[in-house]
Amino acid sequence: MNPLTLNLSSSSSITCTSPQVTVVGAGNVGGTLAQRIAERNLADVVLLDVLDGRPQGIALDLMESRGIEGHDRIIRGTTDYADTAGSSVVVITAGLPRKPGMSRDDLVKTNAQIVVDAARQAIAHSPDAVLIMVTNPLDVLTYLAWKASGLPPERVMGMAGILDSSRFQTFIALELGVASTDVSAMVLGSHGDLMVPLPRYSTVNGIPISELMDADTIERLVQRTRNGGAEIVELMKTGGAYYAPASSTCVMVEAIVQNRSRLLPIASYLNGQYGLKDVFIGVPTRVGCRGVESVLELDLFPDELAALQASAEAVRQRTHDAQALL
Ligand code: LAC
Repeated sequence: MNPLTLNLSSSSSITCTSPQVTVVGAGNVGGTLAQRIAERNLADVVLLDVLDGRPQGIALDLMESRGIEGHDRIIRGTTDYADTAGSSVVVITAGLPRKPGMSRDDLVKTNAQIVVDAARQAIAHSPDAVLIMVTNPLDVLTYLAWKASGLPPERVMGMAGILDSSRFQTFIALELGVASTDVSAMVLGSHGDLMVPLPRYSTVNGIPISELMDADTIERLVQRTRNGGAEIVELMKTGGAYYAPASSTCVMVEAIVQNRSRLLPIASYLNGQYGLKDVFIGVPTRVGCRGVESVLELDLFPDELAALQASAEAVRQRTHDAQALL
């Protein structure tokens, strides 16, 4: 007998539900993301992977830390998309990571079909969800997943601008010896070699970094940011970064499930903004419960705009090539 069994009148029609997030891919990014979401009490999590046992094991392990971490979220592992039904957010992390020497674009052959299948199946069971893409090559796969999902473009987004901005923020803070929370950094464009860090919009409590360091130092930090993912792949040899990618994705999940209208650098669908059409690329975007609320069109300097457009052109070309692989 359970003396705490609810004794509601049978006429009660109230259904209590917690938001649910599906995380596809129980690798390092997916598992860490599930942990972050649960430990911040944001939503219940369904972790799905093709490798039977792994998502169930991770879910049980995370559940067993609930008392210590002080959260009440339910985490379930599965191989069956039917178990993910009714999610408010679907995050796709499935796919292979890079090996040393590989670019993110080298992954397209293996990962395109994986994310297309995942988007199709997950959204079939959660048609009202917002879809967040994490798998690389990020901007290209966000486009392919959008097409496969059948969702309106404002309900689809890619993660990486927050991650790239967080790396730039970290390097600025370390260089100046100030707290990272005092630094605000902005990186736009694709999640790749052509990403567009914007020192002009990067500040320390409102003070532009150009007043605090010389141009050579800024350029060094910009290059380290561009190379941020590869630097970690080179160190780790097998696999790549996952703590900061999971944290960055969790910021997006939080903005959606708590309807926070956060202004975040994410890969959004452009339909004329910045002179770009029919491409997903990193731009400042207001994110709330419906997904993309609006894209902010900054008044960029000509060289900044040219860099963003070059980045988008490369993504568009690779997206075109990737579609031919499917
Ligand atoms: C990185 C991977 C996630 O930048 O692209 O670390």
